[in-house]
Amino acid sequence: MKGQTVTPFDVGTITSYEKLINEFGCTPITNDLFERFERMTGTKMPRQYRDYVISHREFDVVLDDFENKKPFYLYTGRGPSSSSMHLGHLLPFQFCSFLQSAFKVPLVIQITDDEKFLFKKGLTMDEIKIMTVENIRDIIACDFDRDLTFIFTNTSFVSDLYPMVLKLGNLIPTSKVQSTFGFAADTSVGKLGFPLMQCAPSFAESFTGLPMFSGKPKMRCVIPCAIDQDPYFRLCREFAGKVKHPKPAVIHTKFLPGLTGVNTKMSSSNTNECIFLCDTAKQIRKKINSAFSGGQELLEDHRRLGGNTDIDVPHTLLTYFCSDTNWIEHLRVSFREGNITCGEMKNTVADYIISIVTKFQKSRSAVTQDEYDHYLMRK
Ligand code: TRP
Repeated sequence: MKGQTVTPFDVGTITSYEKLINEFGCTPITNDLFERFERMTGTKMPRQYRDYVISHREFDVVLDDFENKKPFYLYTGRGPSSSSMHLGHLLPFQFCSFLQSAFKVPLVIQITDDEKFLFKKGLTMDEIKIMTVENIRDIIACDFDRDLTFIFTNTSFVSDLYPMVLKLGNLIPTSKVQSTFGFAADTSVGKLGFPLMQCAPSFAESFTGLPMFSGKPKMRCVIPCAIDQDPYFRLCREFAGKVKHPKPAVIHTKFLPGLTGVNTKMSSSNTNECIFLCDTAKQIRKKINSAFSGGQELLEDHRRLGGNTDIDVPHTLLTYFCSDTNWIEHLRVSFREGNITCGEMKNTVADYIISIVTKFQKSRSAVTQDEYDHYLMRK
């Protein structure tokens, strides 16, 4: 099998999540853990999340904490690299919103405007500022607990993060950062130092100024993230003891595939293989209609031989968003038996995705400046 590249800065073709989990040394998620989560929180884990979450680091300990009424908080983030987020960005925030409402815990959301300036050639800080505001609106539309959620940009919150950045900076050797992220001797100093900014929010001490953290400076951090972000948190876990904090727990998720194939990752750099959250219904239908199909090219062959949903992008997209097991299974079997055509599958999925995006757009247009300021605690 060809090697797969998955780093925080480059995600190539994904051939096997299992292999990745092994390579990274994460623990595969189990049904037992999902069931324990459900028992403990009294919240059903929707089927799409059971597929979406693939591995973890000490999620079991988080459930112990929950059981023992020990406080913890959630931490996630977003690097603003396009003015509208896409479907693949919606998922992690919806998942975080789900976890937050199940656990009823604080959530901090880091917007890494600095990261995009350092890693994305050609972007100016002014351009990033515009994307940041647009992305924050997108994120707010995912519906969090208003009083337990804090969104911050690195360039504005840096003074609060800096003490932890300094502590970690004193402890972590350059060679460690180089080997963890594949940085070379000619990597800029800015890039080399950036990981400390993404690591600092993993320790509650960075948020002592916030009311929801008051009196809990040693709360455990729980990080839901796509598996490519794991290197940051491996680093945090290794040095947590030295900064006298509990190791952050991590919940790893898959990537949403792009429209060209189930082994790709949806990316805003290719507008045609990506469904933006600002796309119109017409654009979405057109894009899904041109997505890679697992059916036969000729209708008569398809009726006779049937199609393969494992490689069918529209059906796969549906599995990421839809909780209705029976319907998904019905579509799978009908497609496999040739009763549903490629076009029918595409249109059915397009209808579903359009309904999700329309709902999102409605919620986004209702985000007020007041609400925006509230999440950023500017008031
Ligand atoms: N680096 C992430 C990105 O490029 C953003 C991010 C910052 C993040 N902190 C995080 C993602 C914590 C998950 C968890 O999108």
